[in-house]
Amino acid sequence: MLPVKLWRVRRILFGLATVLPVIGLIQGQRKVSYDDIAETIYASCTPCHSPGGPAPFYLRDYEEVRRRSERVGLNVISSAMPPCQVRSDFGRFPSTPGLTTEQMILIRSWASDGAPPGERNPVAPQIGARVWRLGKPHLLVRSGPVSAPSEGGIHWVFAKVKLTRGGVIRGMELKPSDPQTIRQATVGWARPGINAVADTTTLPEGVDPIGSWAFGYYTWRSPRGTGVLIPAGSDLHFMLQCQAIGKKGDASFDLALYFEDDPRLHVERIVLEKRGFTIQNGEKLRLDLSTTLDADLRVTSLLPEFRYACEQVDLTVVLPSGETRALLTGRWDVYWTGAYNFIDPPVLPKGTELKLSAYYNNGFDAAHGPDTRFPIRQGDGLDDELCKMTIQVIGAEAGSDSSAAAARTAISQ
Ligand code: HEC
Repeated sequence: MLPVKLWRVRRILFGLATVLPVIGLIQGQRKVSYDDIAETIYASCTPCHSPGGPAPFYLRDYEEVRRRSERVGLNVISSAMPPCQVRSDFGRFPSTPGLTTEQMILIRSWASDGAPPGERNPVAPQIGARVWRLGKPHLLVRSGPVSAPSEGGIHWVFAKVKLTRGGVIRGMELKPSDPQTIRQATVGWARPGINAVADTTTLPEGVDPIGSWAFGYYTWRSPRGTGVLIPAGSDLHFMLQCQAIGKKGDASFDLALYFEDDPRLHVERIVLEKRGFTIQNGEKLRLDLSTTLDADLRVTSLLPEFRYACEQVDLTVVLPSGETRALLTGRWDVYWTGAYNFIDPPVLPKGTELKLSAYYNNGFDAAHGPDTRFPIRQGDGLDDELCKMTIQVIGAEAGSDSSAAAARTAISQ
């Protein structure tokens, strides 16, 4: 695996510098006890740090958290954990268990105060790895055998399953047979008769993305009454981000699908994609793309696709009033990616400009480097880069048609 530790250290230093004064402030007061932080740990850490999760150890009760308290404090204050760092001015993404500054400071203070117990010392509620969080599946899809390489860090592995039933898909959830192997999955679909084949790091030509899944959070779903229309006999395509675990990996999985019985709006997409770029050795590159909406649309979900050299992604909107707001902004880390669904999908009026900026680094201080021997090109291969944002939208009002507008604004530059 690439030297991930380097950027961790850098971020820890940066994190400490900005937050230390505040810690000093609260240290004069009552000591933080485990009771003060347990709920936060169970909501934001335990889903991954428990049996059936991808993390290498568990955080389920006082003793388990105390044993790692120093690393817990450092990882939290440096924003390395929980690992997803994006935010939006349009409300929280339910899929990202990010911490508030207060929560970060409390956990860090608790750790640096010697990790004292509380009076209640609550234990995490049972997180059954076999429980479907969206309820009983309407259709269960099984992958059959899929294997992943044993060595070499992260790989993208592809799988394809024929869909026996058509309909409007509103939600999905995936259960890997081996949670240590599959870290993330992007799911797409292709019409019957399209024979798409993949050996790349992106869904192949002819396959439209539906959404993605990642451990502990990031399950794709669409608001009630909406979904992605998929005819029976279509193929579901899976792009699995797999981690080599030293022996042949089991990348098989079960997928639960949820259908919408009373669909009023179909989900359409706007794609912002840049092709044909190169990031020279040692160079930093910023790419900008934009499009203007020609209808009122509601944004339901965002699906970013970038790779190793990308360090920051900003998707901003400039409203017709001139006001600028972040639809999604954050540090990019290819190991922690997913689909971002809005709890309360925002309406963007006609005339709104969507602007995507992506920041790449092929220099010595690159987050996932340093490896500055080669230029990095846009493309489908493992060493290539991507600059692609799929924005899922529905009409702003029930009965309005989002498809025409979306089709016209799908751009590739
Ligand atoms: C989405 C899953 C996920 C969530 C949520 C998550 N972790 Fe982790 N954590 C991991 C994985 C996987 C690793 C192993 C390292 C890696 O693969 O990056 C890890 C590693 C760690 C480590 C060891 C890293 C080191 O530098 O020693 C600590 C400590 C940690 N997590 C604490 C936490 C805390 C505290 C939270 C909540 C505030 C949390 N994690 C939330 C998945 C997660």
